[in-house]
Amino acid sequence: MQNTAVPVITIDGPGGVGKGTVAHLLAKKLNWNVLDSGAIYRVVAFAAEKMALSMDDCDALLKLVTTLTPTFSTDNEGGMNVFLNKENISARIREPHIGTLASQLSVYPSLREALLSCQRQFRKPKGLVADGRDMGTVVFPKAQLKIFLDASPEARAIRRHRQLLAQAINVSLRDVFAQIIERDERDRTRAVAPLKPAEDAIIIDTTTLSVDDVFSQVVLHWSARSQEKIA
Ligand code: DC
Repeated sequence: MQNTAVPVITIDGPGGVGKGTVAHLLAKKLNWNVLDSGAIYRVVAFAAEKMALSMDDCDALLKLVTTLTPTFSTDNEGGMNVFLNKENISARIREPHIGTLASQLSVYPSLREALLSCQRQFRKPKGLVADGRDMGTVVFPKAQLKIFLDASPEARAIRRHRQLLAQAINVSLRDVFAQIIERDERDRTRAVAPLKPAEDAIIIDTTTLSVDDVFSQVVLHWSARSQEKIA
């Protein structure tokens, strides 16, 4: 059960746009909880690959979801640690091919539905910053503030490539770019909960902005929204 009295800020956007970084910075500043919803889809993809399940077998994937009990914790640097059966799989779920598998299985409506309550459980006092693709449209449609970050595919590929190299995951920029284009297409065109801004979302194009610039803008929007509520 989610506690609807707890405020939520949603940060949606395509892969590599920096929403995770901004979400963690904001959660730290406000001393709120953070939800990296992509990590949940990635855990399912990781477990499915381990069990050699086909991404076409929706029934088997759904069955898998009902048996998984991942645990999540935030480390001192604001990074998310993910454990499955006591194994720390935080680095493994970040591998690019797991992102592709996660995008493939995320097209199934029944699977998305099965993951809703797991995501909503993160809504605990004092507040939640949730990042993903459908946080503002489906998972938390009544969120107090909805942000949608966008950036050119080129800028996102460069950022994602840098992140992967920092995690000692060696891939070429060309491959990262190709994966971003492929995932964008699938995430934006799926029938249920496609990647798109909520009608009441504030859209920020981050192509030429630094993380600090984006963070400052989001903080300003939240301050303004909080003032509106008081006035
Ligand atoms: O944000 P990410 O790259 O970790 O997400 C991996 C995939 O998971 C993404 O390509 C689509 C899916 N996803 C989703 O469908 N809905 C979300 N809220 C988050 C992720």
